[in-house]
Amino acid sequence: MMAEIINGKAIAEQVSSGLLSRVAELKRNGIIPGLGVILVGDDPASAVYVRNKKKTGEKLGIEVFIEHLPRNTEPDQVEDLINRWNENSEIDGMIVQLPLPPQFEKQKTLDLVDPRKDVDGFSSANLGRLLSGQPRFIPGTPQGVLEILKRTNTRIKGRHSVIIGRSTIVGRPMAALLLRKVEDGWGDATVTVCHSRTENIPRYTRLADILIVAVGRARFVKKEMVKEGAVVIDVGSNRVDNKWVGDVDEGVREVASKITPVPGGVGPLTVIMLMKNTIQAAEWRLKGS
Ligand SMILES: NC(=O)c1ccc[n+]([C@@H]2O[C@H](COP(=O)([O-])OP(=O)(O)OC[C@H]3O[C@@H](n4cnc5c(N)ncnc54)[C@H](OP(=O)(O)O)[C@@H]3O)[C@@H](O)[C@H]2O)c1
Repeated sequence: MMAEIINGKAIAEQVSSGLLSRVAELKRNGIIPGLGVILVGDDPASAVYVRNKKKTGEKLGIEVFIEHLPRNTEPDQVEDLINRWNENSEIDGMIVQLPLPPQFEKQKTLDLVDPRKDVDGFSSANLGRLLSGQPRFIPGTPQGVLEILKRTNTRIKGRHSVIIGRSTIVGRPMAALLLRKVEDGWGDATVTVCHSRTENIPRYTRLADILIVAVGRARFVKKEMVKEGAVVIDVGSNRVDNKWVGDVDEGVREVASKITPVPGGVGPLTVIMLMKNTIQAAEWRLKGS
C-alpha cells in the first residue's frame, strides 16, 4: 500500500475561504480583527513562525501587531505589555511566541493573557475548559489536526488514536479533543498517550488506527511501528541539514493509508486555526460578550 499524501496547504486554503467572509462581515460592522504577537529574543525558527503568522493574518484581513523584544527583556516588561493589550480593544487576540528565554516562567507568563484574548488556548483557564468539555479557544495544532481528520473523512469515534507526546501545546490538548463526548461524531475516540517514559512504544503505536506524532525527533516513527492502513499525522517539524523534516520516517508511507507530509501538512492548519480563533474573538467583541 502506498499512502495518500494529505495536502495540508489545500485544506488550509479551504478553511481560509470560509474565514474571509466572516472577516468581511466584521468589517461591515466596523471591526477589524486584531492579533497581537509578542516575540522575545532571536530564535530563528520563532522569527519564521511569526512572519508566517503576520502574512497569513494579513491575507485574511486581520491586523497583526508584532512586539519584538530583546532576549534579555525582564518578565515585568512583558507583563506590562500583556496588561496593556488585555485592555486594548483593538487587540482581539494575543499570543506569546514560544519558546521564551530562560528568565521567564512559561506557564506563569501565558496565564497573564486574558483568557478571552488567549487565542493560542495555552492559558491554564482555557486548557482547563477544554478538559472540562467547555472549550473556549482550542490550541491551533490539535484543532488543525482534527480539521485534517474531518476533511479527509477519517472516522475517529470509537477508534484507537495513539498520540506520541504529552506537551501542553500539542499532545495533551490533542488527547482532550479526541476524547470529547460529542454528538457530531468528531470525538469519542479511545486515546493512548505515549511519552519519553513509556516502555515499548511500538507495542502501542502498532495498535493505532490513527497515529499522531508530536515528539520533536526527526524520523522517530519507522515503518515497523505502524499498523497497515493506519492514518498518520506528523506534527513534528525539525530542522535537519537545512531542511524541514517530520517526526515520521518516509518509509511509513508504505504502510499507512493516509499521511501528512512535512512541510505542507499540519503546519499550515496550525496557523489558520490561530486566525480562526482570532476572528472568533473579534465576533465576540462585536456581540459585546
Ligand atoms: N506543525 C506545527 O504547527 C507544530 C506546532 C507545534 C509543535 N510542532 C512540532 O511538534 C513537535 C512536538 O512539539 P511539542 O511542543 O509538543 O514538543 P515538546 O514540548 O518538546 O514535547 C515533546 C514530547 O515528546 C516526548 N518525547 C520526547 N522524546 C521522546 C522519546 N524518545 N520517546 C517518546 N516520547 C518522547 C516528550 O516526553 P516527556 O513529556 O516525557 O518529556 C514530550 O511529551 C516538535 O517537532 C515541534 O516543532 C509543530
